[in-house]
Amino acid sequence: MTKKLKFYLSTIYLSFLIVFIYLFYEYGFPNNYSHILFLLSVTLVLNNYSIFFNYITEIKTSMTLPVLISSFYFINPFWVGIITAIGTITYKEEIKYFVWYKFLFNRSSIFLASISGALIFNITRPVLDGNSFPFLSILLASLAYFIINNFFVYTVINLADNDVNKMTLVSYFRELSKNLITSYFLGLILLASYIYFSKVLFVLIIILLFIIKDFFYSRLQQMNSYTQIIESFLKVIDSKDHYTEGHCERVAKYTYHLCNEMNLSRAKSEKIISIAKIHDIGKIYVDDHILRTSDNLNDQEYEEIKRHTEYGYQLLKDIDLINDELDIILYHHERWDGKGYPEGLKGEAIPVGARILTACDSLDVMITGRSYKPPMTKEEVIEEFEKCAGGQFDPEIAQKIIELIKDGYFDDKFKSEEKIKELELAFDY
Ligand SMILES: [Fe+2]
Ligand SMILES: [Fe+2]
Repeated sequence: MTKKLKFYLSTIYLSFLIVFIYLFYEYGFPNNYSHILFLLSVTLVLNNYSIFFNYITEIKTSMTLPVLISSFYFINPFWVGIITAIGTITYKEEIKYFVWYKFLFNRSSIFLASISGALIFNITRPVLDGNSFPFLSILLASLAYFIINNFFVYTVINLADNDVNKMTLVSYFRELSKNLITSYFLGLILLASYIYFSKVLFVLIIILLFIIKDFFYSRLQQMNSYTQIIESFLKVIDSKDHYTEGHCERVAKYTYHLCNEMNLSRAKSEKIISIAKIHDIGKIYVDDHILRTSDNLNDQEYEEIKRHTEYGYQLLKDIDLINDELDIILYHHERWDGKGYPEGLKGEAIPVGARILTACDSLDVMITGRSYKPPMTKEEVIEEFEKCAGGQFDPEIAQKIIELIKDGYFDDKFKSEEKIKELELAFDY
């Protein structure tokens, strides 16, 4: 654990302690426990059966906010904090694999976030909503809870230096904001049923949601089989093409960052990233000796290796689950200037996914090197992209890659200068 992270965690724990003591003196014990016990049990049950699951970033969102919205309305801020802090304890992740500092961080951050929401609700309600249904104050309270809670989590992810989850603050919040909107409306429905009808209707609506959940779940399962198919193909590629082991997976990672920078729909980005993972699948049909001796190929052998794009396309085109966007595989060696293969497509006639993939594919070759050329330094790669923008690469995409490289996104992938020198010597130039 880094010093920064330790300091950050201690600050959160301390803030939790101070706010807890202060609010306890302010609000003390409640007169009526029925709302508290009811909402606490609902939160606990729902949190251990999350409904929505974002499979790409693996960020789990749950029913916390929709139920929290009713807590804002019925319960004072201190007890809202207690309900949320206890109600969000998940058995599978937190009790079974108990790590005290994680557990304490989760409790403290969610306590602080939920009491912030509750305080904002109490302050803004008389001004914004008066005696009417509190649409606006709930919106503000939900926003406050959402921003504070996710900011805590975002900061801890980034300080923990976890490569997989690193994303920009904007893309992190953009990803989650869809859940915020759903949660807000769900929360309003639950609150209205609680105020105007009863706890019974509140529970019935939640049961209804669980029935809908099955629908989401079957969709999720479909996505899982999709991922499994991709992963199996990935293993096949690696076993066939040892020299480029890990190439497809790295290319997919670059593609992920690039897609985040481009204005593509989420569904499209996900497809491109998955296809990137298996873009060289056609190589399984190319003769082993050609793959292994890719430095000194004769014309006929070179023609054969070029056919991997078509082989890959032909192999996958009949699998319904993945045949969308498959032309990315077919065209991932086309060039912006029309000098690529297999069809010599030019400029925007090449699908955008294929243009992205071409750039990421080349980026990996530059960074890792091949048997016939040593790896490049960061500066050399930037130069290469500047030089080839408008030639091999779509100029806009080349520019985006340069920005990502300059922002340090791929720093951990570049080899050190000493290592490159060592490799260059071995190359016999
Ligand atoms: Fe390729
Ligand atoms: Fe490739």
